[in-house]
Amino acid sequence: MGPLIRLAAWLLVAGAFQPREELKAQERLFLSSLGLTGRPRPAGKHQLRNQVPPAFWKMFRRSETPQDPEGDPCTVSEYGVRGNIIRYVQDQGRLLSGWSLSCQDCVEKQVFFNMTVLQPVELLSLAQLEVSLHWKPVRAAALLQAAPAVSLSLHEVIRSTLRGADPRANRKLLLARSVQLQPQPSPITVDLTSLAERWRQAGRNYGLVLELRPLSAAGGEFSPFYPGNFLPLEPTSTLPLIQASLVAVSLNPHQCRSRQKRSAVHLPVTPSNVCKARRLYIDFKDVGWQDWIIAPQGYMANYCHGECPFPLSESLNGTNHAILQTLVHSLDPQGTPQPGCVPIRLSPISMLYYDNNDNVVLRHYQDMVVDECGCR
Ligand SMILES: *[C@@H]1O[C@H](CO)[C@@H](O)[C@H](O)[C@H]1NC(C)=O
Ligand SMILES: *[C@@H]1O[C@H](CO)[C@@H](O)[C@H](O)[C@H]1NC(C)=O
Repeated sequence: MGPLIRLAAWLLVAGAFQPREELKAQERLFLSSLGLTGRPRPAGKHQLRNQVPPAFWKMFRRSETPQDPEGDPCTVSEYGVRGNIIRYVQDQGRLLSGWSLSCQDCVEKQVFFNMTVLQPVELLSLAQLEVSLHWKPVRAAALLQAAPAVSLSLHEVIRSTLRGADPRANRKLLLARSVQLQPQPSPITVDLTSLAERWRQAGRNYGLVLELRPLSAAGGEFSPFYPGNFLPLEPTSTLPLIQASLVAVSLNPHQCRSRQKRSAVHLPVTPSNVCKARRLYIDFKDVGWQDWIIAPQGYMANYCHGECPFPLSESLNGTNHAILQTLVHSLDPQGTPQPGCVPIRLSPISMLYYDNNDNVVLRHYQDMVVDECGCR
């Protein structure tokens, strides 16, 4: 069953003031057709939540405009890969310490992305790590000097370290490069698709460690203490803040059929009781979902309603079977029902929402809008 049918069933039940359990069951059914195991409950307060990255807004807006009917609905052109779900996965790793034991003169940061938020059915097509270093010179004078350089290295943690053992033995170097710190950071991106695929298996994700080490020439600038002094002097620059995120593009192949043309359908408002699509605007506030759906706030879902009377006219898009059924119904109204008035053409919408782990997710859903009805 398509998501819209489930939504319709749920709304019908809601409108009829059914028992709460029934309502909950319908809501669950609808959520499962959206590929969600339950209603997401993002933890953070609205203001504290992760911002939607500008690139996600851009992709969302593009998906809202009428699309190229020839285009592949399940390709994310921004990244050049197949997919219908794009997640902005949050880093859950800690800053190990300013100056940890295993790293006397450097900064270490754990980076952890929970990849079990992907459902088993999803095919991961891209996982791209983005690291930004936010550096603010303490004194204006520091800006005039040459920008400090750091060496950045990224390690995969291959197993957990027992107490007392050297954590370095359990790390595999993925990337090392030197970076000039700039007040305006330019993010470093690293393709981690195959590693992220392994992280989907339970117990296989030990995360990453990012290490920043001042390069010798600028080393003194980062030291919070000048040698021989007991009082910390004001350093000329602070350590950069490290921010990591992962863009994961995946494909749910069950929600990926060839694109139906998204026509700008203007439904007539003329009253009539024959089968046709009727306007129905679903406001996510009405169903209590405004706290996890970012956009849209609602959409024109429509529904099919009306009679399929004898003789079935061509405009009712009946099948031969429906034409015969109306004929039989006209002869024996008690014994044979009229054909049903059902959606025959549906179109997709995109949704931007927070999942349980506060990740921003952009997803395309098929069959969310009724464009045309017919007697079947
Ligand atoms: C990862 O996310 C799943 C699903 O939200 C959750 O059940 C699990 O506890 C999380 N694991 C970690 C290590 O945060
Ligand atoms: C039947 O299909 C035509 C176009 O194929 C459409 O214009 C018409 O509205 C449809 N009929 C109903 C009842 O939706």
